[in-house]
Amino acid sequence: MSRKLIAGNWKMNGLRAQGEALARGLAERAAASGPDVEWLVCPPFTLLAPVGEALEGTSVALGAQDCHPQGQGAYTGDIAADMLRDLGCAYVIVGHSERRHGHGERSELVRGKAEAAARAGLKPIVCVGECERQRVAGKTLAVLEEQLADSLPDACPEGLVVAYEPVWAIGTGKTATPADVEQAHGHIRGLLAHRYGEAGRGVRLLYGGSVKPGNAGELLRTPDVDGALVGGASLKLDDFWGIGEAAA
Ligand code: PGA
Repeated sequence: MSRKLIAGNWKMNGLRAQGEALARGLAERAAASGPDVEWLVCPPFTLLAPVGEALEGTSVALGAQDCHPQGQGAYTGDIAADMLRDLGCAYVIVGHSERRHGHGERSELVRGKAEAAARAGLKPIVCVGECERQRVAGKTLAVLEEQLADSLPDACPEGLVVAYEPVWAIGTGKTATPADVEQAHGHIRGLLAHRYGEAGRGVRLLYGGSVKPGNAGELLRTPDVDGALVGGASLKLDDFWGIGEAAA
């Protein structure tokens, strides 16, 4: 399998000076030495241009946190995938639980976004995950199955990434156990193989939800975990770096 993908989701955090400093700091460390991982940062839209400039010519990739399913038009406040590509983005997160829950985004919309990303030449990071109530009811795998069935494009997008993020583990300090993650990722891997055949085996699967330097090692050594999607800890250079080190 390829190098682990260590992706930072900055969410709605950071002004220009902080964002540039964080990106520069990461790129400098990655250039000097460090773990053999693929680094990715996903700042808010407002920081894509300055962070993209700071990362130009470095090994750290740039991604966005969302895109619109349409290529252009009268969609006030929205951002098209082509615009992200134009700023140097290589990835875009779609279907994050904070969009699904906070903005009522349904899987059909997430699929449209993933398709738009693929058309624009971006690698979509499609997020799925069960909430606490569904987990307690023993419905985790069924929820993942349903979300994936409706959120994924019919044809496997080039470079597709799927992130398993249990909603109850996001920003809470609670993490799924390696056994939970192994079961969920194994199930997702099987669904992808069934849906996409050989291409499904090449899809990278990230775990997300309170990943920290202290728990990253065991989570990233779990079978079928190809990287991490990191929220809070990606805002602190030492923590984000520590997660990358734990991955290698
Ligand atoms: P967290 O967020 O690492 O702060 O739990 C993860 C995410 O939402 O992608």
